[in-house]
Parts: sequence; structure tokens; C-alpha cells
Amino acid sequence: MATKVIKGGTIIAADRTYKADVLIDGEIIAAIGADFSGDEIIDATGCYLMPGGIDPHTHLEMPFMGTHSTDDFDTGTAAALAGGTTMVVDFVLPGSDGLLVALQDWFQKAGKARTDYSFHMAITSWNKQVFDEMPKVVERGINTFKHFMAYKGALMVDDDEMFASFLRCAEIGAMPLVHAENGDVVAHLQQKLLAEGNNGPEAHAYSRPPEVEGEAANRAIMIADQAGVPLYIVHVSCEQSHEAIRRARAKGMRVYGEPLIQHLVLDENEYKHEDWDYAARRVMSPPFRDKINQNGLWAGLATGSLQVVATDHCAFTTEQKRFGVGDFTKIPNGTGGLEDRMPVLWTKGVLTGRLTPNEFVAVTSTNIAQILNIYPRKGAILPGSDADIVIWDPRAKKVISAKTQKSAIDYNVFEGFEITGLPRMTLSRGTVAFKDGEVLAPTGNGRFVEREANPSQNRALSTWKELTAPRRVERDPKNIPAGV
Ligand code: URP
Ligand code: ZN
Ligand code: ZN
Ligand code: ZN
Repeated sequence: MATKVIKGGTIIAADRTYKADVLIDGEIIAAIGADFSGDEIIDATGCYLMPGGIDPHTHLEMPFMGTHSTDDFDTGTAAALAGGTTMVVDFVLPGSDGLLVALQDWFQKAGKARTDYSFHMAITSWNKQVFDEMPKVVERGINTFKHFMAYKGALMVDDDEMFASFLRCAEIGAMPLVHAENGDVVAHLQQKLLAEGNNGPEAHAYSRPPEVEGEAANRAIMIADQAGVPLYIVHVSCEQSHEAIRRARAKGMRVYGEPLIQHLVLDENEYKHEDWDYAARRVMSPPFRDKINQNGLWAGLATGSLQVVATDHCAFTTEQKRFGVGDFTKIPNGTGGLEDRMPVLWTKGVLTGRLTPNEFVAVTSTNIAQILNIYPRKGAILPGSDADIVIWDPRAKKVISAKTQKSAIDYNVFEGFEITGLPRMTLSRGTVAFKDGEVLAPTGNGRFVEREANPSQNRALSTWKELTAPRRVERDPKNIPAGV
């Protein structure tokens, strides 16, 4: 196997920062230390070495709202590599044929991936076939199941369906994820707003107030607790749902929260833009919020009540967004971010002192690898780990522009952001996949990463639930009154 040595860099791990060289043998990190020789030397003087980013929330080529998201596994993962991300986790959306047929579909689409990838399986209805197929999905290396509490009439499941699915997750050692918004209330507010003539993109935000997210987060947490499973809440955008997560964690519940890079830096004023296209391009669920919410989300990442920063990359062109002219409920929901997540988080997080470099690594890679049960194969620079490494140049600068991005859409919601701190090089399983602005990994280079069920958080929770389960009090019959 060809060997590579990355020399002269400073390794940033989630728990420490230190100067060391990295020896790579084929696809794997062989050793960390000094004075290595190898077939190829990569000079990382002045740069940081961080584990490749993992984005656990993407929708590549997703069928949604009458169209498909435009970035597929080819362009989406090219964007990922350019931004230092070496693994994505995409959502499989089953149709009426069931989970396994949909999974085949997603394997087919992901054949184009340039980065490694995994899937979450969505549960969008409840019946015997779904119940029977869930363990088979787990056998295929997928240990997470997503539930949409919104998108009524399409993807949404109700409480009894969700509870049944969460119980099944507990049985098979899997973890449920939720999109937390009260879909019934959203559907009513949408119709009310439209009837009142409120049909522009700003009404999308009016129809999904933060209270709607907070209520659903609290409900999902209660249902997970009753089912005895850990819970992961995607795209936490506001104080209301963050507060629910904080309260649950303070009670000892195993609840994880994932803010998006978009919600950390963009706010609801974006929807007031006088250009319809500008506002519609920013329509996503949950919507961008009052800026006041951002302080809490940043603090949650620093103090551990929130664990992961994702993108929910679901990129639609301006032409696709225009399906909703005259009716905001028809604007395809979703924004991009795969190329920008790490540079924007570094610039707006580390350079402002909101996050330490170690916290940056934790929330972009290490924490999610642990939550998804793929650590330390992913999420770490350690001997034996996959050699997914980003060589980060903290002095490199750029201005974000749709004109230079890898994503296939015609705009960027971070347009004009001035960035300091960018990947100089991204290695994916030991191969240079991105260098000096160019994506080198060919389409199809990515591999599926299997994730085993029953991670330690599930085992700990089921042990505790068993120990504290309601138990019948055994009484001497003489202490029990005769029945009537
Ligand atoms: O608006 C969004 N977030 N679109 C993608 C689907 C979802 O809800 O995650
Ligand atoms: Zn029902
Ligand atoms: Zn969602
Ligand atoms: Zn999503």
C-alpha cells in the first residue's frame, strides 16, 4: 500500500490540540508521531489537521414538493469535499413499496457519491410491512429512523404512529430522529394566511412560529422517554426547542440537538427582502428566526446542550422556487450549505470566540460519529481511523459566491460572506479528494459506511429503563380485601 506522511501540521481533536505528523497507509491512519518516511510527503506547515467533517443531514436528489432537489450525490458531495466534509448521511424516503425498495433506490443514487455516505431511514407511515422491515434495515447497517412531525398529507406521522415506531426502535437498538414542528397547526396557519392574501415567501415564516417547533420537540421528547429510546432532534432553530432539549438532558434523558449553520447566522429579516426570488430561495423548514435565537444556539454548542452542526442541504434552483409564486406553500422547502458549513462555522464561531477549535471539531465531526456509532473509524485522527483529514489553512480567505461554488444551483444563501479559514486539502480515505480549489475525487469514489445498532447510549438507557420499570407490589392475600 502507498504511504503518505502529512508533516508540520497541528492536529486539532475534540479533546486537545498538539503538533504531530500523520502517517497514512493506504486508506487508514497508521501512526501519529514524528520522523516518518513515506512514498509521498504532504507539507502542512502553518495548517491545522482536523477529522473530515461529517454532515448528518442532507437531501440529495430528494423527491419533494413535486420536484427533486437539484444537488445530487455527485454535485452535493463535490461541494462537501470543497468545504472539508468527507461523509454525508442522507435521508431515504420510502414510498408505498416499503423501506427496502426505497433503500435500493437510495443505494442506486448514492453510487455517484464522491465522499463516504450513510443513510437514515424515514418512517412516513405505519403498518405491518414497516414494522417487519425495520430490523432488516438495521441489518443493512442503518441504525437511525427519521420521523416528520410536519408536512401534513405528505411525510407527516401522528403521535400513535410515532410512538409505535419509537417502541420498535427501542426493540431493535436503533435511534429515532424527528423533524419537530406541529404539522396540524402549520397546515391551518398556511390556509389562514393564504385566505387573508398573505401569499409571499415571508408567510412561510409566519406559518411556522417557534412555538410550533417547541411544542413538537417537547412532545417527541415525552414519546421517546415513554418508549425508552434516545432521541435526536434535527434542525433545532429556536430557543423553544433548545429549551426542551436542555430540560430533558437535565433530567438525564438522552436527547441530542442539531442546529444548522443557516440558523446560526441567518435570520428572519431575509424573508422581508423586496425581491421575491431572494426571499423564496431562503424558504426552508423551520424558517430562519428572530436573531435573538442565535445566541442560545451558539451557547448550546459551546456548553454541550446541542451537539452537532449540520446543513439540511436540500438545494433547489430559483426556477424550482418559482413553483410557489402566488402561493408560498408551493415553494420547495430547502437551502444549500454543504460547501459552506465548516468555513462559515469557523469564521463566525471560532474567530469570534463563540467556539474553541476543539469544540469546532466536536460539533462538525466527532460528536456525530459517536452518536451514529461509527467512532473512531470516522470523526477522529487516530491510528486505525479512516484517513479522512482536512488540512485547514486558518489564513486562507474567500468571499462566498454562487459563481464559484460546486453546488449546481444558481445562488447561495451565504452570498457575500467574507470567510477566513478554508480547507487547503481534503483527504478521503487516504486519497487527496480536494486540493487548491479543485475536487479531485471522481464521482463514485464514496463508499457506504455501515453503522451497527445498539450503541452504548441505547444499552445504557434500556438498562436504566428496565431497572426503573413499574413493578407489581407482591402482597400477602390477607392484606387484600375480598373482591365484590
Ligand atoms: O426545508 C427543509 N428543511 N427541507 C428539507 C426537508 C426537511 O424538512 O428536512
Ligand atoms: Zn393515528
Ligand atoms: Zn426537516
Ligand atoms: Zn432535512
